[in-house]
Amino acid sequence: MTLLAITSQKGGVGKTTCSLNLAFSFARRGRKTLLVDTDPQGAIGLSLAGRAREGRGLAECLEGNLSLLEAVIETRETDLDLLPVGHPAPARIARWVADLEDGYLLEDLLAPARERYDLVLIDTPSGLTGPTMGALRIADGILIPLQAEPLALRSVPAVLAMVAQLRQEGRGPHFAAIVLTMMQSREEASLKVAQETWQLFPPELVLEAVVPRDPVFLEASAEGVPVGLLRRRPPAVAAVFDQIAAELEERLGFTHEEGDDEAIPLVD
Ligand SMILES: Nc1ncnc2c1ncn2[C@@H]1O[C@H](COP(=O)(O)OP(=O)(O)OP(=O)(O)O)[C@@H](O)[C@H]1O
Ligand SMILES: [Mg+2]
Repeated sequence: MTLLAITSQKGGVGKTTCSLNLAFSFARRGRKTLLVDTDPQGAIGLSLAGRAREGRGLAECLEGNLSLLEAVIETRETDLDLLPVGHPAPARIARWVADLEDGYLLEDLLAPARERYDLVLIDTPSGLTGPTMGALRIADGILIPLQAEPLALRSVPAVLAMVAQLRQEGRGPHFAAIVLTMMQSREEASLKVAQETWQLFPPELVLEAVVPRDPVFLEASAEGVPVGLLRRRPPAVAAVFDQIAAELEERLGFTHEEGDDEAIPLVD
């Protein structure tokens, strides 16, 4: 099992949107994927219709009332399961957030997922505290969504510095990747942020794929589905997450299974 955390210091940059749509793409590519919501505000659950919103989840697992595999929700997509955040009691949230910070509790909780999933994606709350720190400590890699808007760049070095520090301590992700989000390629301010990003960070740190700003994301969250399920023939932006998944697979060190590297004849 490989663990990918989706993290940013700044809020509202597209973490939850990327987590959900990327998890869907990985599953479509045949990776057995579990998407875990660690945001006490229930970001993933709120973005989805149905049981993921109402059901039990991480909070109930942490209270010891439920095991991980009992809490996991299967989805329409065969290889995609969800662990919603559940319903943390308001008075317990501060404690709950603090308990997750050192990563050990999260690691224990996710232990049953080890055999069952190829990939666990963790959506985290913004900031570098609580569950976000826990996820950073145990993750193999992190994806940092960077909103292509002025000032957004400022918060990225703090995340990278934290990753470097954790690595020095012998924990922390092997790699970080930045993905530009909410890109408006016809807006000068947005383009400027993209250019600064490409100049500031080494090429291997910034993914080629860029998530455009598109009203279809609002439509998808109103319907409570990933963009790939918004309609039978998904909108163009859905393909961006397939590209991100393909780029990340290399960084995550996913080995090709036998036969994977060979071209498939178009006509037998
Ligand atoms: N590429 C996009 N184009 C248009 N709207 C987007 C895009 N990505 C995200 N959004 C919208 O922006 C808002 C914030 O996105 P999202 O919830 O994914 O950010 P977040 O980083 O998870 O926020 P938080 O820090 O609160 O957890 C949501 O309303 C979402 O639908
Ligand atoms: Mg979120």
